[in-house]
Amino acid sequence: MKKIISLVFISLIISSSGLHSSEEDVSTILITGSNRNIGLEFVKQFSQKGWRVIATTRSLDSADDLIEFSNKNRNVIVEQLDITNDAHLQNLKKKYQDDVVDILLNNAAYTPRYFSSFRGIEGVDIEATRKSFEVNSIGTMRVIQTFIENVERSKSGKIVNLSTKAASFDERPEIPMMYSYAMSKAALNSMIKTLSFETAESNIIVVALSPGIVNTTMGMGLMGAIDIDESVTKMMLVIENLSMDQNGLFLDYEDGRVIEW
Ligand SMILES: NC(=O)c1ccc[n+]([C@@H]2O[C@H](COP(=O)([O-])OP(=O)(O)OC[C@H]3O[C@@H](n4cnc5c(N)ncnc54)[C@H](OP(=O)(O)O)[C@@H]3O)[C@@H](O)[C@H]2O)c1
Repeated sequence: MKKIISLVFISLIISSSGLHSSEEDVSTILITGSNRNIGLEFVKQFSQKGWRVIATTRSLDSADDLIEFSNKNRNVIVEQLDITNDAHLQNLKKKYQDDVVDILLNNAAYTPRYFSSFRGIEGVDIEATRKSFEVNSIGTMRVIQTFIENVERSKSGKIVNLSTKAASFDERPEIPMMYSYAMSKAALNSMIKTLSFETAESNIIVVALSPGIVNTTMGMGLMGAIDIDESVTKMMLVIENLSMDQNGLFLDYEDGRVIEW
C-alpha cells in the first residue's frame, strides 16, 4: 500500500512539474486597447499562434467581441486597463508581478475621429490635444514604466509601439491635418528613441511601428487604406523578425523598412 501511495505521489510530482515547464515555454504578449480594430486583430492572431495573450481594454463594457473571443480561446485573458488610470496600472502591476512579458504591444491610442482634427491651426481643439498627449504619449510611457520589469525577464523582450507616419517629419502627408494626434505621436516617438538607449543595455528591442492607413474607424474611406487583417498579418512578421540592430527605429508594417523620424 505504501509503495502504491509513493508511486502515485511521484507521478503527481512529475505531471505537475511537466505542466509547469510547458506553461513556461508559452510566450506572453500584453496588448493595450485590444477590444476593437487593430488591437483585437492582434489578439486573434497571437492567440491563434499559441501565445498567451493578456488582452487589456479601457472598459469592459465595450469589449463584447473581445470577451466572446476570450471565452472560446483559453489562452486569452481579458483585463481592464485604461492606460491613463493609475489604479488600473497598479492593479495589473501587482497581479502580474512575477510574470514574464515577452512582447509589450502598445496599441491603445486616442485616434482622430473627432471632427476638429481636420481643422486648421485656429480650430485645433485644446481639450482633444491634451487628451491626445495624456493617452498617446504619457499613457503609453506609463504602461512601459509599469511593465518594463516583466519584459526584462524575457529572453527576447520586445516593446512595440504603434505610431503613425503622420508623426514623421520626413514622411508625413504634406497637408495641415491632425495637429493633436501627430504632435502626441511625435512625442511618443521621442520617448521610444530615448528609451532605446536604456533598453539596449537590457537586451530589449523597442521600436515604433506604423500599421499603414488601415480601414478602422480612423482610416475608413481614406484612399489606399488596407484591411485590418492585412496590416496586422504584415506587422506580425515584422515583430517576429525584429533584431537588436533595429532597436530604436521607426518601422513600416509592409516590410519593416525604416521610416525616417
Ligand atoms: N487605423 C489607422 O489607419 C492607423 C494609422 C496609423 C496609426 N494607427 C495606430 O494604430 C493603433 C490602433 O489603431 P486603430 O485604428 O485600431 O484605433 P481605434 O480603432 O481608434 O482603437 C483605439 C483603441 O485604443 C483604445 N483606447 C483609447 N483610449 C484608451 C485609454 N485611455 N486606455 C486604454 N485604451 C484606450 C480604444 O478603446 P475604446 O474602444 O474603449 O475607446 C481602442 O481599443 C493606434 O495606436 C493608432 O494610433 C492607426
